[in-house]
Amino acid sequence: MIGIIGAMREEIDPILGKLSGVKTYLVGDNKYYEGVYGEKAVFAAYSRIGKVNAAITATILIERFGVKTILFSGVAGAINNSLHIGDLIYATRLVQHDVDITAFGHPLGFIPETGDFFATDPNLNKVAESIAFERGIKLGKGIIATGDQFIADGAKKTQIAERYKADAVEMEGAAVACVCASFGVPIFVLRSISDAADMDAGFNFDAFLESSARISADFVLDIVAKL
Ligand code: ADE
Repeated sequence: MIGIIGAMREEIDPILGKLSGVKTYLVGDNKYYEGVYGEKAVFAAYSRIGKVNAAITATILIERFGVKTILFSGVAGAINNSLHIGDLIYATRLVQHDVDITAFGHPLGFIPETGDFFATDPNLNKVAESIAFERGIKLGKGIIATGDQFIADGAKKTQIAERYKADAVEMEGAAVACVCASFGVPIFVLRSISDAADMDAGFNFDAFLESSARISADFVLDIVAKL
């Protein structure tokens, strides 16, 4: 069973619109949707924003619904200035940029007995690369930094770039990757750029959330078809 997570309704609606026979389940106070894409049974959910919500959703998909693969779809702010609005990037690794227990001598982003960088699944990443190649779609890859902050500030953006060598920033990916690492579930994280995490980020996010979310959702559905 494949699970698809987005953070916001706008990130999951383009996926739900393409599923047939959708059934809805309520777990806690959030909805989970079961449906079929082509011949593939999938569960999809939008977690709502942030690391805690994303971790709840990933855990429920794995533990309650028996999901064995998780695909994340959504938008991100560009940290690497070679990424532009609408560009796709998948995470090779993810890190929580807002974790700081340096007071105890640990590196930024590091949690004892958990680690700092979470790797995504090389086989899922290969499937994504092959789809991009076949269709002539530009697909970037790199480090995605996750935190419970919407980054709309040049200085914070530079800090995340320097500290983590991050290429993009968002608010859920590393939390889902942490859950997947804990349960041994392969994960793929795809993001389409909605803004440049700078002073215009709020405005651009509102303007490009829907279009960029759809670019990511369409690509993730292509991956579902190939699995
Ligand atoms: N998701 C999309 N853009 C973002 C940004 N600038 N900061 C955090 N998460 C985002």
